[in-house]
Amino acid sequence: MSDRVIIFDTTLRDGEQSPGASMNAAEKIRLAVQLEKLGVDVIEAGFPAASDGDFDAVSQIADRLQKTQVAALARTSKSDIDRAWGAIQNAARPRIHTFIATSDIHMQYKLRMSRDEVVAKAVEAVKYARSFTDNVEFSAEDGSRSDRDFLCKVFEAAIEAGATTVNLPDTVGYAIPSEFAEMVSYIMANTPNIGQAVLSVHCHNDLGLATANTLAAISAGARQAEVTINGIGERAGNTSLEEVVMALHTRANTLPAHTDIETRQIHPTSRLVSMITGIMVQPNKAIVGANAFAHEAGIHQDGVLKNPMTYEIMKPETVGLNRNKMVLGKHSGRHALRSHLKDLGYDLSDEEIDLVFAKFKELADKKKHVVDEDLEAIITEGFLRTTDIFKLDYLHVIAGTTVMPMASVQIAINGRPVKGAGYGNGPIDAAFNTIAKLAGTDSELLRFSVSALTGGTDAMGEVTVRLRENGLIALGKGADPDIITACAKAYVNGLNRLEYLKTHPVKQAGRV
Ligand code: KIV
Ligand code: ZN
Repeated sequence: MSDRVIIFDTTLRDGEQSPGASMNAAEKIRLAVQLEKLGVDVIEAGFPAASDGDFDAVSQIADRLQKTQVAALARTSKSDIDRAWGAIQNAARPRIHTFIATSDIHMQYKLRMSRDEVVAKAVEAVKYARSFTDNVEFSAEDGSRSDRDFLCKVFEAAIEAGATTVNLPDTVGYAIPSEFAEMVSYIMANTPNIGQAVLSVHCHNDLGLATANTLAAISAGARQAEVTINGIGERAGNTSLEEVVMALHTRANTLPAHTDIETRQIHPTSRLVSMITGIMVQPNKAIVGANAFAHEAGIHQDGVLKNPMTYEIMKPETVGLNRNKMVLGKHSGRHALRSHLKDLGYDLSDEEIDLVFAKFKELADKKKHVVDEDLEAIITEGFLRTTDIFKLDYLHVIAGTTVMPMASVQIAINGRPVKGAGYGNGPIDAAFNTIAKLAGTDSELLRFSVSALTGGTDAMGEVTVRLRENGLIALGKGADPDIITACAKAYVNGLNRLEYLKTHPVKQAGRV
């Protein structure tokens, strides 16, 4: 058996099912390009039958990527598979991923199908998918709670029908590592044709065990891991790519397998996902959290200064963390900016460089040191959000100990400027009230958080808002050295994302 683990990234599909994490097509393409750079083997680009928006984004990604396999998800119906194939048919390396539930509880209550019917449906779907491509994955949804012998029977039938990968999902995050590893061993030993397919695992993190379960499964013989960047995903999320990859990398002496991930791209990819989705990484998150390589205790700092390996099991540079190295200042030119952005993984057109350069100069005037995070924020602010309806033109706030906080704002709605002023309990409240009035929104602000992107009082403030309207939830994000402007940008971004959700409805029933 090969000791190489195939990394199947589902940030764009299962990750996008995180509440409020919907991304627009331009953002998805940008992320797919970065995932290719990271070296993932397969990108699950979406679920084309779920919505026209998903279909379009998947097909644009399929057209764009050359090296990485592009997978599209489909239930076992012919119409879903047609839709999946329609979206990926032009991919250099397409994969159809079809699934049906195999646990008794799902078959009885959700599908209302017998075991035999489920096997027949799986076989029919895999054969149909094989009529389009020889790269077909079959998943047994809720596999970890399925009867083992039945699971082996389904996998045997799916492989016989042509599946080249069979996937065991822990859909509800119920498994524990020893039991999950045993299940993998059982499948390996009792599925006669398992040697003709790759056995994959797909774990959810409801008990905080997704990474542990995935590693246990790899030790027992699984050779594909389905993961997301930052572990984002439905409910408590999916297995995080960076944790599995760095565990295999760091503990190669104990764990029997490796990946082909370019680990120095982990940190830039993590930042990009958090900026695009608006889902912040918790500071103590393994590998990519802000504190993952920060040593607070004096004894630790002393040890690290004498020899980093006293307390650091991985070098920050290995995961692409350059410790906020000062990169550029206000005298840096366009050429230096372009070449630094290239190092960061942004290969921009002349037009895009012009836009970033103008913003960079503006920022360098306000802030002495412009670091990588600042540049990434400019890029995300600048042109990933291409479908915006609302744009913040200007904001002026008055606040202090003796005045009533007031904001005057101009926003453009589809290019048409509207302006007004309003009061609030503080400058941020005043800005939000005024923007809400101008935009005519009925949305409710559910959450609001502020953090500093980098150290120092001149740090860029990064703001996240969560908005709800008619059951739709959207996250908005904004960054600016002026914290109130960052708040206004985040609010406007949230409104744009709500509009995007309204015009790109996701058939919730089609979500998995
Ligand atoms: O969690 C799950 O079961 C899934 C399948 C579609 C693989 O996401
Ligand atoms: Zn899942």
